[in-house]
Amino acid sequence: MKVLITGGGGFLGQKLAHALASRGTLRGHTISELILADLAAPDSFDAPFTVTGVAVDITDRAAVDTLMAGRPDVIYHLAAIVSGQAEAEFDTGLAINLFGTLNLLEAARAQGSHPVFVFASSIAVYGGEIPDPIEDWTALNPQTSYGTQKAASELLLNDFSRKGFLDGRGLRLPTITVRPGKANKAASSFMSSIFREPLQGDEAICPVPADYTHWFLSPRRCIDNLIHGAEVEASALGENRCFALPGRTHKIGDMVEAMRRVAGDDPVNLIRWEPDETIQNIVLGWKAHFKPEKALKLGFVSDETFEDNIRFFLEDDIQPKR
Ligand SMILES: NC(=O)c1ccc[n+]([C@@H]2O[C@H](COP(=O)([O-])OP(=O)(O)OC[C@H]3O[C@@H](n4cnc5c(N)ncnc54)[C@H](O)[C@@H]3O)[C@@H](O)[C@H]2O)c1
Repeated sequence: MKVLITGGGGFLGQKLAHALASRGTLRGHTISELILADLAAPDSFDAPFTVTGVAVDITDRAAVDTLMAGRPDVIYHLAAIVSGQAEAEFDTGLAINLFGTLNLLEAARAQGSHPVFVFASSIAVYGGEIPDPIEDWTALNPQTSYGTQKAASELLLNDFSRKGFLDGRGLRLPTITVRPGKANKAASSFMSSIFREPLQGDEAICPVPADYTHWFLSPRRCIDNLIHGAEVEASALGENRCFALPGRTHKIGDMVEAMRRVAGDDPVNLIRWEPDETIQNIVLGWKAHFKPEKALKLGFVSDETFEDNIRFFLEDDIQPKR
């Protein structure tokens, strides 16, 4: 079993790669090779199978064809630019998030090997005038370029699956919190940094009020779900391969109190509350209430409480100051 991860050098790509190394199997088969593709070749690491890092720009169709020539059995397509950057750089977002995805779908189709294709979509496909809570049949109505690029990719994934070119699964990820490392250009970046930086002893700015409400999942449960996304039976997916993953709705203020319960007052005192109109213009359009019944029925999972998210960060990812 060969597995390919695009965006394999990124946050979720790296976590998924290491989780696959711990398991050694996927879909009941031993993994023989894992290919990590990203703009810069990701480092190899110790695993019970070969790990190969390759430098590929997914906007380059010829390079994507070469990547796909190894005929991976399972493709995780995680490469993308995030919401803030896709909003600021329209052409780059279109080239990577939509045409890059199409390059992968077309290259997989050209191989004729009908791979499982797990696509990381986003709840940014929802927005505007749609019902609350969002249910499995709620119309997609993205209010950002990033969300539009993800929604368009989902339609293509469904059609490529319907035509039998590949076996697609499009998972609409909640905001994944607490993300380790450095702040990125996602408009949602503060939803991790207001926990990550204070837990590591640094100040952080919260650009929204304490009653801002959103839909979250921890990195640990997200990786569980990405693995399950490849393993779930195709016959169980029905006529729409794309659906929202489980998560939990939290208010930012309640999340901060959860951090206080787990880690005390010191990190909470490092948060500065400074409204930012640009960020609010994007994130206030996102939806917070979901009924992800299809995903729950298919066995996808969420966290129990936001304390879980904080504890998982402390166990898996914290990088204390030296
Ligand atoms: N993290 C979240 O909260 C979240 C939420 C919803 C959806 N998603 C989606 O999940 C996926 C992974 O997210 P992440 O948080 O790991 O992001 P990330 O930014 O950490 O990783 C994405 C990777 O894609 C790579 N990439 C960008 N352009 C590329 C190109 N042209 N060719 C090849 N590689 C390219 C980047 O170098 C990066 O390593 C993305 O598709 C993202 O849209 C993430």
